[in-house]
Amino acid sequence: MSQRSSITARPAPAHSAAVVPPSLAASIRLSAGHPPAAGPASQDDRALDVLEPVAATPVYAHPALLLVLFCGALLLAGAVVYLGFRLTGGRVPPAPAPPDEQKDAAPKQARAEEITAKRMEGEEVEAAGPRLPAPAHTEIDGLAPGLNRTLGRLEEALERQRRFSSDASHELRTPLTAMRTQIEDALQAPQETDAATLARALLPSLDRLQRIATDLLALSRLESDALPVRRQRVDLGKLAEGELRTLPITKRTVPLLGPDVVVMGDPDSLGSLICNLIGNAQRHAASTVTVTVWREPRGPGGPPGGTAVLEVADDGPGIPREQREKVFQRFTRLDSARSRDAGGAGLGLAIARQVAQNHGGRLTIEDSAEGARFVLQLPLAPALTP
Ligand SMILES: Nc1ncnc2c1ncn2[C@@H]1O[C@H](COP(=O)(O)OP(=O)(O)O)[C@@H](O)[C@H]1O
Ligand SMILES: [Mg+2]
Repeated sequence: MSQRSSITARPAPAHSAAVVPPSLAASIRLSAGHPPAAGPASQDDRALDVLEPVAATPVYAHPALLLVLFCGALLLAGAVVYLGFRLTGGRVPPAPAPPDEQKDAAPKQARAEEITAKRMEGEEVEAAGPRLPAPAHTEIDGLAPGLNRTLGRLEEALERQRRFSSDASHELRTPLTAMRTQIEDALQAPQETDAATLARALLPSLDRLQRIATDLLALSRLESDALPVRRQRVDLGKLAEGELRTLPITKRTVPLLGPDVVVMGDPDSLGSLICNLIGNAQRHAASTVTVTVWREPRGPGGPPGGTAVLEVADDGPGIPREQREKVFQRFTRLDSARSRDAGGAGLGLAIARQVAQNHGGRLTIEDSAEGARFVLQLPLAPALTP
């Protein structure tokens, strides 16, 4: 037995055979200077001086080849990124939804289309309006609240449109029916009717039709903002004084018109606003109407230059608080059928409020000891520099 032997090669135990990879096992060689003994080796002769595991370098692991491969991979990655940007226009496409979300998206889209189609056709649907369920835990579900808000606005707009069409048709039908009856009566007994009598009978209904058409046109122009407000200096006290001179006054009317209450605006539309307020008050007052104009210094949240205020108050039945916003809607009339005949189509206050808003102001109904109190507030015009 050699004394130099330090490692004895023995058949590997069964459990360790798999531990040494064949490539490594094949490359275990005897160290230099200790060649294996020639001739048949005995059990002891297989003892080795030193065993050095030397890993063989495969050809593909050559450093130069690796460098070339690495550079090639870099170039390829760059080309892929460039092509991707060219194809997507530089935008990062949204991550595709997981399969179960994609499964959810199709029925939701179909539902959204169904809801929109129903609304557009004016079909009756549930009172609160159908909506998409909005659990909001995925990207697609995150869109549902926005879509629901749009559906809500669309629903309100269509409802307003429907109500407007039906109210307008109703208002137009009343004078038209009256005129038709008068003409049919005249045709039934032509010898008892002369043209002048028939024309006089028809005129009030024609006037009414003309008023409605004019008001509707004014309202649509004011709402569409198609015509910019004509701006000039308007003395509110003088304007109210002029309207009081021309309007039919049936009740005691007290003017309290302060001087130099000047606003920037359109005298025609402001005049028609004042005219409507005074006309309404004359119709509803028990005995007295008060028209007051004054300036208010700058208040908290008010216009920087102060506010011009015009107030029309009467001692009539007034307007209940819960109806005070409603009367500003088109075609709203709270009056009984009898006093209705004296009034218009219920468009006056809708127009008046729109005029106030287009002048940067507001028209409201405020509390009062008795009757109704309409208050118009407009920004005061800047003082003229001498
Ligand atoms: N001073 C008032 N007192 C009581 N009710 C009023 C007064 N002014 C307006 N109203 C109510 O508001 C409704 C709407 O007024 P308006 O829009 O001017 O329409 P119209 O004058 O054509 O009736 C009136 O029909 C009436 O019911
Ligand atoms: Mg009116």
